[in-house]
Amino acid sequence: MQEGGSGLSWQEARSLEELERFLKGCLRCGLGRGRTNLVFGTGDPFARVMFVGEGPGFYEDKQGEPFVGQAGQFLDQLLASIGLRREQVYIANCVKCRPPGNRDPLPEELEACTPFLFKQVELIAPRIICTLGNFATRTLLQTTAGITALHGRRFRRGDRVFVPLFHPAAALHKPPLKSILIEDFQLLRGYLEEDLGGGGGEAEASSSGCGGQEPLFSESGVEAGEEAAPGEARQLGLF
Ligand code: URA
Repeated sequence: MQEGGSGLSWQEARSLEELERFLKGCLRCGLGRGRTNLVFGTGDPFARVMFVGEGPGFYEDKQGEPFVGQAGQFLDQLLASIGLRREQVYIANCVKCRPPGNRDPLPEELEACTPFLFKQVELIAPRIICTLGNFATRTLLQTTAGITALHGRRFRRGDRVFVPLFHPAAALHKPPLKSILIEDFQLLRGYLEEDLGGGGGEAEASSSGCGGQEPLFSESGVEAGEEAAPGEARQLGLF
């Protein structure tokens, strides 16, 4: 995919704006034909913390912004509970166009779109990436372990720390998950404070909670295995 005029490829984009420009007419997978708007991502291009969901839903597709429906309002409340506004973080999704009927993205759609997510991560260079729900967690951490085992914990990959969290939409449908998510945001607040303090936190060895999956890190907390590519990485009124 090349942008008209510049002769550069999307891999060479030097800013989020440049990358977004490349993607505007993207038809790499079937989702492009059904979209109203591409939902690239929003927030601080130099955010310390990034949130990654699954894919745009109905309202996101209409408005071209991630997390603007009920789940998004809940995410705003969760951010507010730790003193953050969405302008201070970066929010994106695994796929940038709405899967019909809000189904999960298909493997070929993910394969087409996640390189752009990894490029976003490279450009933003966040210290902490929160994966929202099973889908983003499995995609970014490349694990088959579920969010129930991983939520609220830290996993180091290269110089980034990943924190899997329940998806706000799932939490809105299941009250017990809602309280866990609210608590996990307080953990996230602590991780951010630790990171600001320069400690960087202790990313966990993950073998204990991954249900027999390959450890994501060695016991020393140093990443095990191959080097990750960049980034490889209504009910409102709750408080
Ligand atoms: N759910 C997601 O995963 N992403 C959005 O942008 C909205 C809802």
